[in-house]
Amino acid sequence: MNICQLLDQHVSAAFSAVKLPENTPTVIKPSARINFGHYQVNGVMGAAKKLRTNPRALAMQIVEQLDLEIIANKVEVAGPGFINIHLKPAWLAQQLEQASKNSDRIGVNTAKSRMTVVVDYSGPNLAKEMHVGHLRSSIIGDAVVRVLEFLGHKVIRQNHVGDWGTQFGMLIAHMQDQQQSGSDLAVKLADLESFYRESKLRFDQDADFATAAREYVVKLQSGDEQCKALWQQFIDISLQHCDDVYQQLNVSLQRSDVMPESAYNADLPHVISDLDTQGLLTHSDGAQVVFLDELKSKEGSAFPAIVQKSDGGYLYSTSDLAALRYRHSSLQADRVMYFVDARQSLHLQSVFLIAQKAGFVSEAMLLEHLPFGTMMGKDGKPFKTRAGGTVKLTDLLDEAEQRAYNLVSEKNPDLDEAEKQLIAHKVGIAAVKYADLSKNRSSDYIFNWDSMLSFEGNTAPYLQYAYTRINSIFKKAGQYDSHATLQLDKAEEQQLGLKILQFEEALQYVAKDAMPNMLCNYLYELSSHFMTFYEACPILKADQATKDSRLKLAGLTADTLKIGLDLLGIEVMERM
Ligand code: ARG
Repeated sequence: MNICQLLDQHVSAAFSAVKLPENTPTVIKPSARINFGHYQVNGVMGAAKKLRTNPRALAMQIVEQLDLEIIANKVEVAGPGFINIHLKPAWLAQQLEQASKNSDRIGVNTAKSRMTVVVDYSGPNLAKEMHVGHLRSSIIGDAVVRVLEFLGHKVIRQNHVGDWGTQFGMLIAHMQDQQQSGSDLAVKLADLESFYRESKLRFDQDADFATAAREYVVKLQSGDEQCKALWQQFIDISLQHCDDVYQQLNVSLQRSDVMPESAYNADLPHVISDLDTQGLLTHSDGAQVVFLDELKSKEGSAFPAIVQKSDGGYLYSTSDLAALRYRHSSLQADRVMYFVDARQSLHLQSVFLIAQKAGFVSEAMLLEHLPFGTMMGKDGKPFKTRAGGTVKLTDLLDEAEQRAYNLVSEKNPDLDEAEKQLIAHKVGIAAVKYADLSKNRSSDYIFNWDSMLSFEGNTAPYLQYAYTRINSIFKKAGQYDSHATLQLDKAEEQQLGLKILQFEEALQYVAKDAMPNMLCNYLYELSSHFMTFYEACPILKADQATKDSRLKLAGLTADTLKIGLDLLGIEVMERM
């Protein structure tokens, strides 16, 4: 149990002792400033208001009932009815001792109820190379996945790649022609982006080619062998490209996590017939539509979700319905999380609604769309190349590594080449990821090389550097006793110790709200507390017992930083 939960138990007990209605929220938060104690109970004012009684008097009553003797040395009523709790340094030290026993978890418990969580993220369209538009889903989803797993949940990654749309007809037609005219397909497909562009150009300009392309889609979807072989060749290359990007980006998605749109093809007719049996379908201009009153437009008309076109073709929403049903019945998910662009919000809302109405999912299954905003250029418009084209993800990542390389070479020219390159890779990728993860996911943000690569402020290089600094202290420390007793005499030691103990709370926020920025903020504050501690509390010059204790605290900080960054998909290094 973390400190917040422990206090919550005590405060709830005190709440019922003074006969507050059951389920009165306790609202316990870490205090913003040390003179308000370590934790603050904010729930009393709300309760007093409901009961029309004096909040301060109520707070006093509660404090009298509050049995915190073992953990706190002062509990006081402040302001209009806050309760401030000052924890005992000795108790904090004892908790930390406990946490230090397992340096892989630093006291973080696994969740009480283990859930099966399906996480749908990345999901690029395989017709083209991955571009910057795929960055956010891939890295935010991956951070949340890692945190959920760390907390002991069963996570099933689902990379819902687009491999089945009309675009593939055009690509197959172009492959077919290229092959016939004797050019080496493998060579041509090495550059997926130009292959796509060539196909698209022909599709737009050549009517015969366009007709052939449309025929190929039908052939593909009806299982034509030769067509399928060409398509498979294309898909394999495209997936290999995705794997390379995930590897460079340190995103944990594997080939086995790919569950493509095409996998649901056989189930699509059943989706339609089942919707029909449920009486949910309306035939409208030849198409099959589910009208959703819940998503009324401004004019008051129900939202029409098309699930089958008049030519019999299925849509993006049809495969999403099939996917959801699979996630319920085969994967047995308790919670399904979609890390998908905010612009697809209506699409997902309608899919969730239809699946619920049709009984494709259970009522208890949690369905969450976790939208994110757009990555913007300096001009405040969606991030583009100078010429206005989409930026390939590999190009962006290569540039990040190059910029980090220049920085490292400048700061530390004596490092050998191989180490410089490794550091550049870790720092460059981390900078891009952290700049994104540290923002509130739901808003747009402006991409800025200089601020993300800065060694000051809430950035990846700052945190990676903080980690190396602690390492260098250990290098200089010489002999020390790693089993020394922790003593938290100074306020700065207590603050740092408490922060380490709050790691689990930060992770729980991330798991609940799917907001990795909560973890970023936590790690940044942890490093800042460390710096304050380091300035106020000399380590190497202290007497042996104090030195050992402080080194232990520094070690716990480093371990927490390392685990926390790893959960964000960010690597650390011993020196930089
Ligand atoms: N392939 C889609 C796109 O590029 C994203 C897939 C998101 N996941 C889903 N189940 N719809 O927009």
